[in-house]
Amino acid sequence: MINKKENLMDKITSLAKRRGFVFPGSEIYGGLANTWDYGPVGVELKNNIKQAWWKFFVKDREDVVGIDAAILMNSRVWESSGHVSGFNDALVDCKACKARIRADHLIEDALNMKAEGMTPEDMTKIIEENNIKCPVCGKKDWTDARKFGLMFKTYQGVTEYDSNIIYLRPETAQAMFVNFKNVLNSTHKKIPFGIAQIGKSFRNEITPGNFIFRTIEFEQMELEYFIKEENWQKQFEYWQNEMTKWLDYLGIKKENYSIREHDKDELSHYSRKTVDFEYNFPFGTKELYGLAYRTNFDLMSHQNSSGQNMEYFDTEDNKKYIPHVIEPTFGVDRSVLAVMVDAYCEEEAPTADGKTETRVVMKFNKKIAPVKVAILPLSKKENLSKKAKEIFDLLKTEFTCQYDESQSIGKRYRRQDEIGTPYCITVDFESLDDEAVTVRDRDTMEQERVGIGEVREYLREKLK
Ligand code: GAP
Repeated sequence: MINKKENLMDKITSLAKRRGFVFPGSEIYGGLANTWDYGPVGVELKNNIKQAWWKFFVKDREDVVGIDAAILMNSRVWESSGHVSGFNDALVDCKACKARIRADHLIEDALNMKAEGMTPEDMTKIIEENNIKCPVCGKKDWTDARKFGLMFKTYQGVTEYDSNIIYLRPETAQAMFVNFKNVLNSTHKKIPFGIAQIGKSFRNEITPGNFIFRTIEFEQMELEYFIKEENWQKQFEYWQNEMTKWLDYLGIKKENYSIREHDKDELSHYSRKTVDFEYNFPFGTKELYGLAYRTNFDLMSHQNSSGQNMEYFDTEDNKKYIPHVIEPTFGVDRSVLAVMVDAYCEEEAPTADGKTETRVVMKFNKKIAPVKVAILPLSKKENLSKKAKEIFDLLKTEFTCQYDESQSIGKRYRRQDEIGTPYCITVDFESLDDEAVTVRDRDTMEQERVGIGEVREYLREKLK
C-alpha cells in the first residue's frame, strides 16, 4: 500500500515536469533544494486557485477587503510578532553521515507520535531512549537537538551591519496587523471584518520537501478576521465551515481530508486554539491549511512596540478595545499539490485499433482546470489549420485555450487528458462543409457534433 502511494508521488512529479506543471528549481545547475518553478500549465492552475480564493473570500463578501503589502518590512515587525526570537525548528545532526534533520519529524516518522512543540531537551531524550536510527545512513550517532532560526535574512543598503538586517517575511499575516488602522480609516469597516492577502512567504526549511509540499519560498492566502473577544468560538466555528466549503469548491474529495485540533503543547505562541485541515498526501497525512484563534496577541504586541494606538472604537457598545482575531490560512502550493493528487486517475481507454491502453487523466474540477479547451485540427493541411485557428480566435477571449496540431489525434487527446483539459475540439475535413466540430468530454470520452456557431454557448453552459 505504502509503495503504491510513494509511487503515486513519483508519477505526479514526473507528470508535472513532462507536461509543464512544475519543474525543479535551477535545474541546469543541479537544482536548489526545496525550490520549484511553475511551468506554463502549472501557472494557469495556480492562478486559477488564487483567483477563485480571492473571489470566494474577498470579492463575494461584504465584510472582507484585500491588501498587497511589501514582502520586506521593518525588522521591528518581526521582533514584536515573536518571530525573531521564537520562529525556529529543533534540528539534529547525524555525526556519521552529516545529515541534518528536523528532530520532531525524525521522532514522528520513527515512532508515529506527534512531537511538534516539544523542547529540544525532550526530543534529544526521546531520540536516545528509543535508539532512533538515521534514515539516511542507519547509524545512531546524533548530536543533541538545537534550535535554528527559520527566517531568511538580508541587508538593506550597502553595508552589512547588524543594524541593517531585514527579513524576508515568513508569513503574510503581519502586514494585515500592521495595516489594521490604515484599512480601518480608509474603509470605515465595522467589526467583525477581515483583511486578506495573497503573497509570497519565505522560510529556511531544511527538511526534505516532498515536491512542492514544503519549500523555502511559497505562497500563502491568509485572512485575518477581527472580532469581539466574546464571539471567538462562534466565529471559529463559522470559519471552519467556510474553509470546508472552500475545499468543496476546489473539488477536493471529502474522504481525502480531515480536521485535527492541536494539543496544548503544539499551539503556536500566539494561538489559543488551532485546527489543521489535513490532507492524505501519498507521503502521509499532513497539514494542508490551518485555522487559528490568535486572540489579540498581534495587535497588542504592535501597539506596545510601536507606541501606536491599535484600538477600535465600537459605536454600538460605545467602547474602545483591541480586537481579537480568527485566522484562516491557506498554502497556495499545498493547494496545487492536493488538487493534483486528488485529480490524478489512471483508467482503461480504447485505442483507435480496438485495443485498450491505460490513460492518465487529471480530473480537475472544471472551474480550476488550467486549460479549458483544446483546439485540434485533424491534420496540418492549410485549410484545416485556418479553420481551427478561426475557432481558437473565437474562443480564446473567453476560455483559456490551447492550439495543438502536432502528432496523432490520439496522442494529442492523451496530452490534454494529462493536463486535465475538460473539452477537446476536433476540426476535421467535414467541418469545412458542415460548419461543425467534434467536442470530446475529458471524463466520459464521449464525442458530440456541435455547430461552430453554437460552440461558444455550448462550452459556456458546460463550464458553468
Ligand atoms: N500566519 C499563520 C501561518 O503562517 P503556518 O501554519 O505556519 O501558519 C500557513 O502556515 C500555511 O502555509 C500552511 O497551512 C501551509 O499550507 C503553508 N505553508 C507553511 N509553510 C510552508 C512551506 N514551507 N512550504 C509550502 N507551504 C507552506
